[in-house]
Amino acid sequence: MCADGPITPGECLSVYDAIRLRRDVRAEFSGDVVDDATLLRILEAAHRAPSVGNSMPWDFVVIRDPATLNKFADHVADKRREFRDALPEDRAETFTPIKIEGIVESGTGIVVTHNQSRGGTHVLGRASVPETGIYSTILSIQNLWLAATAEGVGVGWVSFYDTPVLADLLNLPEHVRPVAWLCVGPVREFQSVPDLERFGWRTRRPLEAAVHWEQFASRP
Ligand SMILES: Cc1cc2nc3c(=O)[nH]c(=O)nc-3n(C[C@H](O)[C@H](O)[C@H](O)COP(=O)(O)O)c2cc1C
Repeated sequence: MCADGPITPGECLSVYDAIRLRRDVRAEFSGDVVDDATLLRILEAAHRAPSVGNSMPWDFVVIRDPATLNKFADHVADKRREFRDALPEDRAETFTPIKIEGIVESGTGIVVTHNQSRGGTHVLGRASVPETGIYSTILSIQNLWLAATAEGVGVGWVSFYDTPVLADLLNLPEHVRPVAWLCVGPVREFQSVPDLERFGWRTRRPLEAAVHWEQFASRP
């Protein structure tokens, strides 16, 4: 096990190592395109995620056509501008140097979609909490992200888009909803600190603040 020392992809990655090494990647894509064998191993890991009622409500659309990558990147650039323009001046200044996607540079986009109708009407475990469907799809993304990290492949989640625009771009059926555009590609390195921390946007919350023992708040 790699304990506390620096970790490099490809060497003795335990699940804890992969969790520690994983980063949201925007600027570190090497310019190479991930090969199909590696991509399929990563997708296999995603497809092994747990799912409510074993419904496996996800699908993966792999996009490498430069025309589609560029078209989506243009849309994301518009949404980034919209977000920036709505910020107060000091936050806009902090936001400006932050890169929010690597759609073209990564060479591969994977759009993870969710199909709530998969598994029919009586999905075991979904009756009381319908969101467990989408939770399942999101678990497949986390599997994908960690497996990619172990392969030395970076993943960057892009959510600056209008859902109908992305659905139309990929010709998704009505009942299939895009959940994430993931930029996927080999990286030169993984940053050790998240970009949003490095650029002063937001720091991580300590574990002690997130853990509650017995009850969320003490009663008055
Ligand atoms: C649901 C979700 C949506 C995200 N959307 C974006 C995005 O549109 N652009 C971006 O640069 N990062 C996006 N991120 C990445 C987060 O900013 C990143 O995970 C966070 O800052 C922590 O950094 P780390 O993943 O490197 O630990 C998203 C992450 C999640 C989980």
